[in-house]
Order: sequence, then structure tokens, then C-alpha cells
Amino acid sequence: MRNSRFKKTAGAAILTLSLLAAKANPQNNQQPPPKATASAKDPGVRNGPAAAGGAATSLTGSESILFNVGKQTFSEVDSVFGTLNGETDSGLGPSFNMNSCAGCHAFPAVGGSSPQVNPQVAVATLHGAHNTVPPFITIDGPVREARFKTNPDGTADGGVHDLFVITGRSDAPPGCNLAQTNFAPQLSGGNVIFRIPTPVFGAGLIEAIDDATILANQSANSAAKMQLGISGRGNYSGNDGTMTRFGWKAQNKSLLIFAGEAYNVEQGVTNEVFPNARATTPSCDTLGHPEDITNLVTGAASDIVNFSMFMRLLAPPQAALSYGNVGADSIERGNGAFVQTGCALCHTPTLTSGNSPIAALSNKNVQLFSDLLLHNMGSGLADGISQGDATGNEFRTAPLWGLGQRLFFLHDGRTADLMQAIQAHSSQGSEANSVVAAFNALNDSAKQDLLNFLRSL
Ligand code: HEC
Ligand code: HEC
Repeated sequence: MRNSRFKKTAGAAILTLSLLAAKANPQNNQQPPPKATASAKDPGVRNGPAAAGGAATSLTGSESILFNVGKQTFSEVDSVFGTLNGETDSGLGPSFNMNSCAGCHAFPAVGGSSPQVNPQVAVATLHGAHNTVPPFITIDGPVREARFKTNPDGTADGGVHDLFVITGRSDAPPGCNLAQTNFAPQLSGGNVIFRIPTPVFGAGLIEAIDDATILANQSANSAAKMQLGISGRGNYSGNDGTMTRFGWKAQNKSLLIFAGEAYNVEQGVTNEVFPNARATTPSCDTLGHPEDITNLVTGAASDIVNFSMFMRLLAPPQAALSYGNVGADSIERGNGAFVQTGCALCHTPTLTSGNSPIAALSNKNVQLFSDLLLHNMGSGLADGISQGDATGNEFRTAPLWGLGQRLFFLHDGRTADLMQAIQAHSSQGSEANSVVAAFNALNDSAKQDLLNFLRSL
């Protein structure tokens, strides 16, 4: 259990301070230019060992085994066919973005987000593949997937278009000559948007939060939210009417569904949740579908079940009480400023999980720093993609736990600088405009405390 400094909510304090700031800056529809004197800056990625990646505490013996098997499966590298260089699983492609879950979910530990060196550069030409690396993929940039806004006929697309194909790989079927998507005309036409990986640490706790808890939090502090122009709404499953919560737009219901989708979309491996191939390419596609299934002889779980168990049983990231030159007092003041400026009205410090058959997930304080709701983030962040109930300018409040050891920020990974990430919250129509104005009205040392606090998470 971490310390209890996140538990305060101080609704009244939020209201007074933010209103003062909002008054001081009535033009809060527009992003005020950063002050010339500003010296507060992002302290950068927190050094030290990964504060995430282990199993949740107090798992039973058999839960620990499931975690370890799941972690191994999540880290498994897929070949197209057979076992090249120790690749232990197959089914990759015909098109793909990467060859393992852990390749993209890598930093600061397996289950996280983009690593320092983007593995998509190397995978483009692995085993003789001759893919061109698109310009938005760079060796020191974030892992990215690409979505197209519209189809050639102008109707909405919104789907993921894989970067690479297996053509040319030594393990591809001999007649396979599927062409790689040509991104150049799509890029010049402004039709491409990007998404970077969200970390899955503590994902089992997020899954275990009851809808009623999310809705009660949505109703809390309503006066303060109204004053600041913050609304927020849930995304809902068209299947059973419950709240969806995973992904940048809270578009996916569960870890199992996300695992099934990712396996097919990112790696081209069909499975029991998404059993059909995304495109018909018989010359490249010789295995039957679904490629990943429950073992028909032993009854052993399919990969997607193992992925889900690993993600479900991963511990939440551990916050630091102090680090580097940053003392506990600065972090404590920063936490206060985070609440007082109104960040915490969207980035809810703590929600509580419901009853779960897994004791480690049952009735816990989940210190995720998110309300799991969608907010209009303005024209500057809008990506024009609708998913479920989420419209083109709405995003799920990004959970901030683990932020201290995250390299890239915002849905498309446009910045690695926390100050930029905060300023990007402010643009025409954003629900965060007044809060960013309140942040910008803080003096430099208070801003620095807030940034120091964020990197303690
Ligand atoms: C090419 C990189 C890539 C690979 C490979 C990949 N992911 Fe992801 N993952 C992403 C991106 C990008 C997102 C955010 C997608 C979105 O919301 O649009 C994401 C989001 C997720 C989430 C949502 C977490 C949350 O709280 O929002 C889960 C769960 C997940 N991935 C599981 C997996 C699993 C399991 C695998 C392996 C089958 C996998 N991913 C493989 C890039 C990847
Ligand atoms: C109206 C709700 C709202 C408010 C208020 C708000 N945020 Fe956010 N925050 C979001 C959403 C939604 C995202 C994801 C946006 C995206 O990726 O396009 C986000 C993303 C972030 C990120 C990037 C996280 C990541 O993993 O990429 C940081 C850092 C952050 N917020 C910090 C803050 C701070 C600090 C404040 C207060 C000054 C604040 N936010 C106020 C909704 C809000």
C-alpha cells in the first residue's frame, strides 16, 4: 500500500483557487502564451529501478503461476510460421505493427509503454522483410499505430492500418507478395492520426472498478466542475450497456477483448475473440483461423487468456516519496497544487475497486489518477476518430499512475515534456481550458512543485 497523500479531495479549495485564476484570466478559451520568465520545467524520467512490472502483492500460489505463464506469453515473439531464432509462437501477419505485445508495451518494464529505442524500425526488415519505415516512425520516437480518418470515398474510416507486411520474410509463404500500405499520400492528405501504447500496469484494478463507482465520482464536486467547464461522460458497450474503459477513448470493455483485438490488429494473429482475418490474402495466409485457440488436446488456455491474466495480475506502479533532488515537501506541495488548480477533477486520484474473486483486486484503493470518463479536449488534441460513444474530440482522462517513468505523452505521443503535455490540454472547446489557465497563473515554484509531483507518480 502506498502512502495516503492522494486521498484528500478538498473540493472547496479547488473551487476558490481555480475561480480566482479563472477570473484573473477571462480569456481562458485560448491558450495563454507561456510566460517569458518561466523557469519551471519537467524534471524528466525518474531514474532508478522500474517502479512497475511485478505481480500484484498477495497473489495465491496458483495466481502467481498464471501471472508468470501470462508474462511469458505476453513476451513471446511471433514468427509467421515455425520457430526462427527461438521465436516460439507463430501466426504473425500478413500485416502487422510489431511481433510481440512486450515489444510495444515495454518501458519501464514489460507491460509499460514505448521503450527508448523504437523496435518498429528493426522489425520492418526482420528475417528478410523489405518494408519501408514510414516517416512517423523514428528510432528515438514513440511506438505508433496509424489510423485513417476517412476512406477514399470520403466515408468515415477510423480503423488501424498496419505499417508492415510479411512479404520477403524467410518464413512467409513463397507466393506471398502483399504490398505494404503506402502512407505518403495519406500523410500529405492529412488523413493519418497516431496512437501510442497505454501502459497496462494495474489494469486488473481498473477492470474491477464498478460502473456505479465511476458514476458516483462523476457526480462528485459538481459545483466546482461546473464552474470550470468540466463535464465528462462515460463510454458504453453497445453489447451489454456497461461502461467501457480501456484505450485512449475508453473504447474497450475488458482486458480479454483488448488482448483479442491487439493480437489480431497489431500482430495479425486471429483468435477466439476476433476469429476472422482482417483482409483476404490467400497467398500470404496459409494457417487456419483462428490461429490462437484453446489447446484442443490438453485444454490449455489460449494466448489471449494468458495475456489477460498477466495484465490483470500486474501490480500498479509504485509512486516515489522523494527522488533525485526532489524532496517529499515539494511533492506534497505539488500534490496540493494539482488538487487546487482542478487537475484532480478529471484525474481523480483514487477510485475503489469492487468485490472480485481475486483477493488482490478486491475492494482496493486504485490510485490511477483518472475518472475513466471521456472529455472534450478541444480542437488541438481532437483526432476526428469516433469509437463507441466517443467523438472526434473526446478522450479518456489518461491515468497518471506511472507517469514518472513514462517517456512519451498524449494519445499520439506528440511530446516527451510534461509542460507541453499540460499546455496541449488547452485549445478551442477544451473542458480543461480553465484548469490550464489556473495552472499558468501559479508562480514558478508552485508550477515546479506540480511537475515534481507528477514525476513522483
Ligand atoms: C504495435 C504496438 C502494440 C502491440 C504489439 C500491442 N499493443 Fe497494446 N496498445 C498499443 C496501442 C497503440 C494502444 C492504445 C490503442 C488505442 O487506445 O487506440 C494499446 C493499448 C492496449 C491496452 C489498453 C490499456 C488501457 O488501459 O488503455 C491493452 C489492454 C493492450 N494494449 C494489450 C495488448 C496485448 C495483450 C498485446 C499483445 C497481443 C498488445 N497490446 C500488443 C500498441 C500495441
Ligand atoms: C477536462 C479533464 C482534464 C483536466 C482538467 C486535466 N486533464 Fe490531463 N488529461 C485529460 C485527458 C482526456 C488526457 C488525454 C488527452 C490525449 O491524450 O489527447 C490527459 C492527459 C494528461 C497527461 C498525459 C498523460 C499520458 O500518459 O500521456 C498529463 C501529464 C496530464 N493530463 C496532466 C494534467 C495536469 C497536470 C492537469 C492540471 C493542470 C490536467 N492534466 C488537467 C483530461 C484532463
